[in-house]
Amino acid sequence: MKVAILPGDGIGPEVTRQAVRVLEALDLPGLTLFEGDVGGIAYRRHGHPLPAETLAMARAADAVLFGAVGDPSCDALERALRPEQAILGLRAELGLFANLRPAKTFAGLEGMSALRPEIARAIDLLIVRELNGDVYFGEKGTDTLADGRRRGWDMMSYAEDEVRRIAHVAFRAAQGRGKRLCSVDKANVLETSQLWRDVVSEVAGEYAEVTLEHMYVDNAAMQLVRDPGRFDVVVTGNLFGDILSDQASMCVGSIGLLASAATGDRTTAFGTFGLYEPIHGSAPDIAGQSVANPVATILSAAMMLRHSLGRESEAARIEAAVARTLGEGVLARDLGGSATTGEVGDAVIARL
Ligand code: NAD
Ligand code: IPM
Ligand code: MN
Repeated sequence: MKVAILPGDGIGPEVTRQAVRVLEALDLPGLTLFEGDVGGIAYRRHGHPLPAETLAMARAADAVLFGAVGDPSCDALERALRPEQAILGLRAELGLFANLRPAKTFAGLEGMSALRPEIARAIDLLIVRELNGDVYFGEKGTDTLADGRRRGWDMMSYAEDEVRRIAHVAFRAAQGRGKRLCSVDKANVLETSQLWRDVVSEVAGEYAEVTLEHMYVDNAAMQLVRDPGRFDVVVTGNLFGDILSDQASMCVGSIGLLASAATGDRTTAFGTFGLYEPIHGSAPDIAGQSVANPVATILSAAMMLRHSLGRESEAARIEAAVARTLGEGVLARDLGGSATTGEVGDAVIARL
């Protein structure tokens, strides 16, 4: 089992370190970890945020565990050289079109939700976010209009096969859960979304046991705080999924809690090839202070064991250890506690 570890920038190395410690504590025979540079640190060391050797390492692995990229000192670079291009490049180059972002309330943490505890308690949803298309990957540019005004533009589009394949992922996920799928779009305004809605409806014919509803994204953002328990699986495009998943994290309690898996069609000897990362970024405002919550990254490692490495029982052990850690009140600063990043890691390892 070969795993590429890509810590990245800001708190990326801090939280990844704890996930690696948890993996090492499992002492899995045959697990080999390789570490590579990605993001701003890779730009400074190699002149590119996604160096060829890092991409090759990811390709050669059974799974990638990714920290975060992003560095304010790189924000003025030309776009192709900015740290964020590393994660976008990995998703595109590795064909990782399906992003699974589960959000579930932890017992004992209901009071940390930005919502009232009785509303937060019911959250158990999965956002299935398309990851290879949308306005993220369309043509983009800046120019100057004839009258001298500067303009920026980004092309939003989805081809039907792109919608169909993510719809299948979402319907299958719903089949294995509560059998309810909510497709989120903006079909009342966008042609991209009308096609999205039409194709999702077509695919629904193959999944008779799943109940499909369509919802506009503005309403979905509202329903997510009004009654998040109403959602089972949510499927949506790249941009809406990015935004709604950060929002879902605060419904659960903190962005430091939500893990994610990015997968595609490629399989490995043990499961599906995937890239695993917390949904949060490099958090430059708290980097280097040892206060970042490593739970999202530790839970991403658990998803990796489950989906890419065929190790369901170890994945479940990690998840149980994290739930106990949080339930017993070992909390980092984002959850109102005083445990350092390393102390949260220690507590999870002790409960393995
Ligand atoms: P962010 O997610 O990095 O941080 C948002 C807020 O949440 C900050 O106040 C931060 O301190 C807090 N936060 C995030 N993770 C936390 C954790 N584990 N524990 C405690 N608090 C945490 O989003 P941002 O500030 O908008 O972006 C910072 C940089 O990260 C940018 O360069 C952005 O492009 C990048 N980014 C990268 C990824 C990724 O690598 N996948 C994801 C999101 C943002
Ligand atoms: C995420 C991030 C990325 C995204 C950025 C860093 C490109 O926000 O993984 O949620 O928008 O997909
Ligand atoms: Mn995001």
